[in-house]
This record gives sequence, C-alpha cells and structure tokens, in this order.
Amino acid sequence: MLNRDYQRLAEKYLAPVYSQYPVAFVKGKGTFLWDCEGKKYIDFSSGIATVSLGHCHPKIVSALKDQAGRLWHVSNLYLIPWQIELAKLLVENTFASKVFFCNSGAEANEAAVKFARLWGKRYRNGAYKIITAVGSFHGRTLAMVSATGQDKIKEGFAPLPEGFVHVPFNNIESIESAIDSETVAVMVEPVQGEGGVVKANEEYIKELRFLCHKNNLLLIFDEVQTGIGRCGSLFAYSLYQVEPDILTSAKGLGSGFPIAATLINDKVSSSIHTSSHASTFGGNPLAARIGYEVVKTIIDDGVLDNVRICSEVIFNFFKRKNFSLVEEVRGLGLLIGIKLKVDVKSFVLEALKKGLLLVPAADNVVRILPPLTATVDEIESGLAVFEDVILSFD
Ligand SMILES: Cc1ncc(COP(=O)(O)O)c(C=O)c1O
Repeated sequence: MLNRDYQRLAEKYLAPVYSQYPVAFVKGKGTFLWDCEGKKYIDFSSGIATVSLGHCHPKIVSALKDQAGRLWHVSNLYLIPWQIELAKLLVENTFASKVFFCNSGAEANEAAVKFARLWGKRYRNGAYKIITAVGSFHGRTLAMVSATGQDKIKEGFAPLPEGFVHVPFNNIESIESAIDSETVAVMVEPVQGEGGVVKANEEYIKELRFLCHKNNLLLIFDEVQTGIGRCGSLFAYSLYQVEPDILTSAKGLGSGFPIAATLINDKVSSSIHTSSHASTFGGNPLAARIGYEVVKTIIDDGVLDNVRICSEVIFNFFKRKNFSLVEEVRGLGLLIGIKLKVDVKSFVLEALKKGLLLVPAADNVVRILPPLTATVDEIESGLAVFEDVILSFD
C-alpha cells in the first residue's frame, strides 16, 4: 500500500484526534526510518523524544525477544524480578529511594500528584494544591489537563479536577506569592518541551528547591521528556545540582516500549500505604526487562557522552551558520528548540518532504530530537537537510 492509501484508511477508521503527516513508516534502524514506499528518512524526532536508543537497538531487540519467549505479564499481585531490578538500577543512579511503575507520562504524573496529596494529608494538614507553570505540559488525563499550563489543552473539558494553580515559568516571586496553607507541592519541567523548549534557569531551580524546603512543600520534576539521557545526564535535575522529592519518567525509559515510572524519596514514600495506588500493566515483566536494558545501556555504553558531543555539534552548527530565519536556538543536550521566523508547521512539512523528521512545539519552535545514539555523521547529514529546508524558505 502507498502512503496515501494509509492516509485514507486512517481517516476512515481512526478517531480524529490527530493531525497526521501523510507518511506511514514500516521499518526503522538506528537514526533512520523507511516509509511504506521505500523512502528513507533521517529521524530527528525519535517518536517525540521517546526512541532514546534509536530504532531497533540490537540490545533492546534481543532483550525483548528473550523476554517475549519467557514471560510477559503476571500482575502486581506477585513479585516481578525485572521490575525490582529496574527499580534498584534507578534508585542506585538517582536521588530516589523507591519507584512506582506505570505506562505513560500522564499516569506517572497522576501518581506523583496522588502521592503528594497523601503526603499533604499526613504531614501538611490536608494540603493538596499543586503549583505548576504557564506553558507546561503534563499529559492528557483530566487531572493532567488541569495541571497543564496551556489553555488550548483544556478547551471543551470542563469541569476539570481542581487543585492546580498556574504561575509564570522561571519566576520565583510568582511561586512565592501563590503558596498558601493548602499548597502541597510545586511541579515543573526542567525544560518545557511541548511548551517550546524553554529551559528553567539555574537560579530559578535552586531557589525553587530552597523555597520548597522553607515552606515544607514537595518539589516534583516532570522529566517525562527531559529524562533518560535526553539532556545529557540520566535525569536533567542533576545538571541543576538540586534533588526533587518526586520525579516522573516515561518516553525514553522504554526506548519506544510503553513504560513509565514515578521516583520518590523516603519522605514521600513514608506517607504511601498499601492499595492507595496501582496499575494493572505497570512494570510488567516485558516492559520492565526492556526498561532495565535501556537504562543499563544508557549508563554503560557511553550514551551520555554521545549526547553531549552531538549536542555541541548542533549548537555549533547554528552558531556558525547564523541563519537569518532562525530567531533563537535553545535547549539542553539533544532536546533542542529552534525558534523560527517562518511558520513552523510548513517548515516541518517541507523537512519531511526532503527526508528529515522534526517535531513542532509551541512558540513557533521546531524541535530537534535525534536518538541519543545518533553518530556525528548522522547528525551532520540531518543538519545538511535542515539547511536545505531553510534555504527553500529564504
Ligand atoms: C513533560 C511531559 N509530561 C507528560 C507528558 C505526557 O506523557 P504521555 O503522552 O506519555 O502521557 C509529556 C508528553 O509529551 C511530556 O512532554
């Protein structure tokens, strides 16, 4: 079948929630994808910052095949060895002392909010409100739509769960004045991804940590997009030299396989009781085995060094070229946003035609999100196409 045949069938059979590019991929390897007509693409989208180790990484494929022949699912009624191994690996490499597993970023954030509320009930007289940032994105469940600081995500869904207060990002005074006796936590992304690749200032994050300590509030980092090596360290919080109380992870954790996690410290864990939260699929043997292999590979195989090298290549390229149609280049590691002076949607479509996959974000920003395993050669090839696209708009 051709791309346009799939497009027709998608329109016929799929709930019309997505605006999809007219291309159907059928094969992937590392930094490359092939569509159903055999055309090859350079993938600077990584399934929106998800395929952390590139398509069909040999280690992940072999772990998946091995586990698929052993055991997929038993439920959390029973001990799950790979889930325990993955939790141990995450705990040993982060601030956390315990981990809860689920399946998506929104679910990991839901768990974070529920855990924070349990903590508030026990230690802060039932405080439940969570301060989040304008421009943030935390997911599509009703509570996460409510938590998200973008009006367009909320349209049509009222009444939304209450308990979320939005304040301007990178502005510590606005958080300070939003805190009251019912506040239990502040939740932010170290870099707002969907919001246009807006980096939290170092001073802001440091002051935020101090403010949360001072007011006995929990600090939650939504690292669904920034985590698992994307910003050049396993989680972005370590680049800011502060530790959250709760951190959420998804996207890159399974390198394309659905798995998510909510990491917590002892303080938070002390208020959680049995049966207060659960997930049927969360951390099942198949997902946990893959998650373990992904995190282990990122830690052991020099992936973080590669992120830093490739990131420098990209930032240097834009500095050197100084394109007149580029307003700003921003981000961390391989979560890079290019603010354009031309319409981002047309730009992404033109790049697709030329064989390069990019991801649009808010604020007329195009995201460059290659797999963390991309080689410098592959990055340079993608940048050459990017330049071609720019020239076609000049
Ligand atoms: C920062 C952040 N949080 C949460 C989510 C929601 O994740 P999911 O789509 O897996 O529910 C996303 C997705 O883009 C995200 O970028």
